[in-house]
Amino acid sequence: MAKAYAPYSKFPVGAALRTEDGRVFTGANIEVASYPEGWCAETTALGHYIMGGGGKIVEIAVLAERMAKCSPCGGCRQRLAEFCQPDTKLYLCDNTGVAETVTMGDMLPYGFRGDILK
Ligand code: THU
Repeated sequence: MAKAYAPYSKFPVGAALRTEDGRVFTGANIEVASYPEGWCAETTALGHYIMGGGGKIVEIAVLAERMAKCSPCGGCRQRLAEFCQPDTKLYLCDNTGVAETVTMGDMLPYGFRGDILK
């Protein structure tokens, strides 16, 4: 979150993904002057995760400076679901730590999965 580039919304967000072998991939939101072209912290973290070799994600944490329990947007739920399981834990945080624990299945019930496309 400290590395967010959010000069337009002034809403810094941080995300972290942990894989089962203990690697942690972090991300922050990155905005651009053409607003829809910016992207979320979760998406940055997923880019680091893929470039770092991927693997099984076991935990995800999201933290926003100005909002307790900031939950991933719809687009990020779909992107996270691509690389997670329905039981993957998602920690919604506030500035004291984990405020609520949910699962990816809670976040994206009835989500579209691409199995049939493979
Ligand atoms: N944002 C995230 O990075 N993650 C979320 O879970 C929600 C929203 C960002 C996108 C944008 O840079 C700012 O927060 C305000 O929407």
